Amino acid sequence: MPDSVVIRPARAEDDEAIDSVIRAAFARTEFGHQGEAELVRIIEANGDAIVSLVADQGGTIAGHVLFSRMDVETEGGALAAAGLAPVSVVPARQGQGIGDALIRAGLDALRGQGVAISFVLGHETYYPRFGYSPELAARFASPFAGPHFMAMMLDSNAAWPLGGRADYASAFDRLG
Ligand SMILES: CC(C)(COP(=O)(O)OP(=O)(O)OC[C@H]1O[C@@H](n2cnc3c(N)ncnc32)[C@H](O)[C@@H]1OP(=O)(O)O)[C@@H](O)C(=O)NCCC(=O)NCCS
Repeated sequence: MPDSVVIRPARAEDDEAIDSVIRAAFARTEFGHQGEAELVRIIEANGDAIVSLVADQGGTIAGHVLFSRMDVETEGGALAAAGLAPVSVVPARQGQGIGDALIRAGLDALRGQGVAISFVLGHETYYPRFGYSPELAARFASPFAGPHFMAMMLDSNAAWPLGGRADYASAFDRLG
């Protein structure tokens, strides 16, 4: 990642820049829609954002990651849980490690808040490098279940739950 890029918590005055970053990042994807920016606004408005970080390059926002509250039940009880979505880097800055740095910093922030488990719905070639596993997610009933649904214990020494249910924040209902 370029030295000039700093990962820091998002602030209220970043909202517009974050919106533009998400629109630019997703304009080129197979998702082919602009719904991710709206998703972030709804998650924030509902108070379901747990960690929101930006990649700040000399005052310009080059990337953003959001983790939102999830409702996760296991055989051992409820687990504090966070879903990673969306993560966005402006096209001109992709492939420089900014997405990587945003996700790793986000996972550290979740650990600091005592979150036990994180889920992601995404490319099976990208997220395993952070520790996400389709095998762990497959233990959970979810409307998003499938090969792209992955999970990780934030304490890598923690035992995997045997099974349970994993529900995203209500903003995701329209996507399920
Ligand atoms: C996905 C994304 C956030 C990654 O950020 P980035 O800063 O470009 O990624 P990094 O530089 O940290 O890592 C690059 C790696 O990601 C991989 N990668 C990037 N986008 C990918 C994608 N859509 N699918 C699979 N792998 C991808 C690259 O192949 C590269 O892999 P390598 O390290 O093995 O060469 C960014 O490419 C992006 O904004 N994409 C559009 C939005 C999107 O699809 N978001 C994810 C869905 S929520």
